[in-house]
Amino acid sequence: MARLRSPGFHPRRPSSFFRYTIVAALVIFAFYSLSRHAQRPAQPPIAHEAPAADPDPVPNQPVFNQPPKSDYTDPDARPEHPPPKADDGSHPIDKLIMDGEQIFSNLVAKESNTLGEAAQAYRQRRGRHPPPGFDEWYKFADENDAVIVEDFFDQIYHDLAPFWGVPPDIIRKESWSFEMKIHIRDQETNTTSNWEWTLLWKDMIDSIVHLLPDMDIALNAMDEPRLVVPWEDINSYMNTASSTFGLPAPKNVKSVFQKLPRPGLGDKTTKIPAKNWEKKKPYWPIVSRGCPPGSPARQAEMQSNFDLQPSISSENAQDHMYKGFVSNSSLATDLCHQPDLQGLEGIIINPISVASTKVLFPMFGGSKLGINNEILLPAPIYWKEEERFTGGNNRGGPWSKKGDKAVWRGVATGGQNMPENWRGFHRHRFMAMNNSTKLALVESKKGRTENFAMPEESYHISAYEEGRMSEWVSEWSDMGFIELMCATQTDDGTCWYTDLYFHPVEGLKMKEQFRYKYVPDIDGNSFSGRYLGFLRSTSLPIKATLFREWHDSRLVAWKHFVPMDSRFGDFYGIMEYFLGYKGQNGHDEAAEKMAMDGKAWAERVLRKEDMQIYVLRLLLEYARVLDDNRELLGWVGDALKDPSIMDTWESFKK
Ligand SMILES: *[C@@H]1O[C@H](CO)[C@@H](O)[C@H](O)[C@H]1NC(C)=O
Ligand SMILES: *[C@@H]1O[C@H](CO)[C@@H](O)[C@H](O)[C@H]1NC(C)=O
Ligand SMILES: *[C@@H]1O[C@H](CO)[C@@H](O)[C@H](O)[C@H]1NC(C)=O
Ligand SMILES: *[C@@H]1O[C@H](CO)[C@@H](O)[C@H](O)[C@H]1NC(C)=O
Repeated sequence: MARLRSPGFHPRRPSSFFRYTIVAALVIFAFYSLSRHAQRPAQPPIAHEAPAADPDPVPNQPVFNQPPKSDYTDPDARPEHPPPKADDGSHPIDKLIMDGEQIFSNLVAKESNTLGEAAQAYRQRRGRHPPPGFDEWYKFADENDAVIVEDFFDQIYHDLAPFWGVPPDIIRKESWSFEMKIHIRDQETNTTSNWEWTLLWKDMIDSIVHLLPDMDIALNAMDEPRLVVPWEDINSYMNTASSTFGLPAPKNVKSVFQKLPRPGLGDKTTKIPAKNWEKKKPYWPIVSRGCPPGSPARQAEMQSNFDLQPSISSENAQDHMYKGFVSNSSLATDLCHQPDLQGLEGIIINPISVASTKVLFPMFGGSKLGINNEILLPAPIYWKEEERFTGGNNRGGPWSKKGDKAVWRGVATGGQNMPENWRGFHRHRFMAMNNSTKLALVESKKGRTENFAMPEESYHISAYEEGRMSEWVSEWSDMGFIELMCATQTDDGTCWYTDLYFHPVEGLKMKEQFRYKYVPDIDGNSFSGRYLGFLRSTSLPIKATLFREWHDSRLVAWKHFVPMDSRFGDFYGIMEYFLGYKGQNGHDEAAEKMAMDGKAWAERVLRKEDMQIYVLRLLLEYARVLDDNRELLGWVGDALKDPSIMDTWESFKK
């Protein structure tokens, strides 16, 4: 029989806590006694003037200083370093695809088919009774033909967990007093904001508001996420929250949410902490405080100069890789073990806007980095289903009719690129990998990679070994910027500092992109809004991201999409695996299956109905955590009818 374990779901940060404290305690001492890596030599910045054709190569930047990794992670848990191609001819991606199948079948095996099963799955995974309204929630999900697996809602519990350590009156006051928000009173929404996103989110909530109690929902109006509460503070909220878990006896459970006064009229004497909105760039010092004390992110030196050729190495990626390919796509989005990414991502080097705070308050947003503390809603863009991002109803034709190419079109976003920082920008790095002219110059030693790396030897890329990268890549790659978005762009769209490296190309509508098999997806200023459209298409998304979204726990890497490391060092290896080389050793069928499985699954669990079901669950949980009676609130309809179901739980609060 199942027993109530300590809350079954361990939110990511706190779960790491125990590991980190032990490791950190041992390590911090060892650390300081170790001599630091060599300091970065002073490098002259590149002159900010238009360089001559194929400009002088910039000096290579030394590998970024960081603490010895073995002091931070369990060495036994570290994946082996490549070589990817084993002697027996098997490829690491073969194994990753098999693992993906297994992970997926374990996931769907947990499906709940009745309200009672769903409630027990809830208690098992969450360590509490379901929230009031759970029966209505189940009915809504069931009527909308949803696949109900408790794990699909993990993000909600990750996001809300620390709020169980914040007094409810503070959460309430924070939410109604924030500048942009949606109010719910008596099953009606209201807002004073007419920002497009607010209205889209309001529209989403309106579709389920008849099932919701009173609450106020503060919204992030910016592209970029904004809350980075120091790891130590989150840890302390989590400690406070840990005493709130448990299953009160059903007869003591209350099922009615508290009514709230009109916005602004309640919690008059409640004091909320002042927020200091930090506008600091680069973003890294803000990012790193969200990481645990012993982590590489906290220990690494701050990069202040982004003028040099970025150094790109898979060293910090090993924790989330198996023989050179991403094996843990959620860990791959975690910045705490990847301090080198501070110089490889526009969103960290120079975000368009920064307004961050250390204060934990309930702000909702559409996407966030692993270190951010927003509460995730499905992004407004997904709710709106804009054709620009989804391809409309066109999902692409049959696989066999598609070109064997990787296609990408987009704008050079990712942050505000400048003459002295564009080389580290992720979209620029990725686009440069496609340029066969450049590759030819590098291979003939007449030029050097300006902002990317040739494949590491361990990948044994055949074309590279034969000195034919340029030819090979031009056979299958069709990617380019449609606009350079530079800081000093002229009216004719030219940009003196990136013109030399990137020649803007014609745009391609989504439905035209779907004429090709492979659709890489790269973050922009924040998450990439095309992802859902790519998943639903008959093409195969190759996804590199640092962002978390509402749907992450529904998708399985190597089953529904191809995960790619944010350094893109695995890109050529991924393409060689699928396409083969000189007509040999490709895995076209595996690619087709993944594209079709991803499409079918997206049409099953990423529908607008699934967004409604997610948001309904989220807002019921949120309403509970801001209720003065939160520890006794719950849905126990099943236990009242059949008290014996509580026997399943060996210990519960009487
Ligand atoms: C919605 O908000 C506006 C502006 O604050 C207010 O005038 C109006 O009465 C509110 N409507 C409802 C239904 O609460
Ligand atoms: C991915 O990494 C996280 C964090 O270390 C871990 O909790 C999780 O179990 C890993 N997932 C897989 C599929 O290995
Ligand atoms: C990418 O490759 C295609 C085909 O070789 C080419 O047409 C396009 O201009 C290239 N884009 C970039 C940014 O180099
Ligand atoms: C490819 O790189 C070369 C050399 O850096 C540059 O001149 C050319 O414009 C690039 N091509 C495209 C299509 O971006």
